[in-house]
Amino acid sequence: MKEERKNFGSKLGVIMAAAGSAVGLGNVWRFPTEVGRNGGAAFILVYLLCVLLIGAPLMLSEFVVGRSTHANPIKAYSKLAPGSWWRVVGVEGVVVAFLILSFYVIVSGWTLYYTVQSFAGALMESRDYKAFFSDFTGDAWMPVLYGIMLMLLVHVVIVRGVQNGIEKFSKVMMPLLLAIIMVLAACSFRLPGFGQGMAYLLKPDFSKITTDVLLSAMGQAFFSLSLAMGCLCAYASYFDSGTRLQRTVFSVSVIDTLVAVMSGFIIFPAVFSVQGLQPNEGAGLVFITLPSVFNMVFGGAPFLGYLFSGMFYMLLLLAALTSAMSLHEPVTAYLHESFGLTRHKAATLVSLSCMSLGVVCSLSCGIWSGYTIFGLTFFDFLDFLTAKIIMPVGGLLICIFVGWVLDRKLVRDEVTNGGKAHTCLFPIYMFLIRYVVPIAICVIFFNELLR
Ligand code: TRP
Repeated sequence: MKEERKNFGSKLGVIMAAAGSAVGLGNVWRFPTEVGRNGGAAFILVYLLCVLLIGAPLMLSEFVVGRSTHANPIKAYSKLAPGSWWRVVGVEGVVVAFLILSFYVIVSGWTLYYTVQSFAGALMESRDYKAFFSDFTGDAWMPVLYGIMLMLLVHVVIVRGVQNGIEKFSKVMMPLLLAIIMVLAACSFRLPGFGQGMAYLLKPDFSKITTDVLLSAMGQAFFSLSLAMGCLCAYASYFDSGTRLQRTVFSVSVIDTLVAVMSGFIIFPAVFSVQGLQPNEGAGLVFITLPSVFNMVFGGAPFLGYLFSGMFYMLLLLAALTSAMSLHEPVTAYLHESFGLTRHKAATLVSLSCMSLGVVCSLSCGIWSGYTIFGLTFFDFLDFLTAKIIMPVGGLLICIFVGWVLDRKLVRDEVTNGGKAHTCLFPIYMFLIRYVVPIAICVIFFNELLR
């Protein structure tokens, strides 16, 4: 028996769900890390260009594929190009969503742990945050346990379905997340390092822009906007025919970019407030550097410290949850629709198998850190493989498909809702997706690869 395929119920629901997918650890954890590693303001400028010229057109393309077929990513490509190998793009999306989810839940689990420890006071009482972090992540059981709790939360939401689960949850969590980030950003005005942090974020040093910086910025734009992974394509398959795609792309990109930049405004003034701390700490920035900042800044008023750090990690947690859901959905939808499993069974299968892979990721940060692939731990290898290799290739294939293979009239009808929405941007979009995006991806990607 085939049940009716449900759509999102409201315009706000569409934007909150898609923005929920986009806004995640990528904004609050990965973005500041990359900014710090790649030299501050210059990286941000390149990043903004990547969002505008590469990310937004690609997002629109994924929306076109998803909404025109109302099917999970693999089925969507098969429907649009029957009998061809373009199906591979859908397969890539679903497989990589699965891979990313497996390390995403582990890092999300860390944020849950840090939230709990902040409110419980243990985080403020600790002095050695390097040890605090490595004791936790290096432990065999704790991070796995927190990862499982997180996966359970995601699972419960996914099982409830698109409208009752994902949409309802995002509509509550996203406004809460935006409120928290405003409060935290407002607080950072008062930090002694505010001026220095702002200068770091706003005064570009163009000599820092190298091809590596370009690839990092593009990879970050892909990751942050949830591109090339079947997520947004799957979500768009639940958009109804009245949803304005261009407007949705605009809202989601703006929200995502604002949250990323505001996270920078929260984190860098904090980092510069403490003597001797550097912004280029890498992945430990949020989990090691920041707690020491909280500790020193709020040393005299520990209660404020609990509150501030608790709110910060809760922000990360909420952001992570809605994104994890969006990584879960395409895989679940595929198993559900293409193999006839009930949604419940499909979701359970995904949660369990993903968690198993997650355990390997988690252990690779601790007792298995000695086992490496090309010199990277399994965890870092997955991140590298997905963000720097598969995503650019997937993005390239998507834009070739939508720009060159799909019938232009179909694309035009989708983008403009049959001519009802703005049509003036369509030629610009077509130009970007046919020439600018593929060439930019190739140049940046191969330059880096052949280095
Ligand atoms: N965009 C999310 C973030 O910023 C992560 C994410 C969700 C993602 N879905 C994705 C990344 C699909 C790549 C592809 O954290």
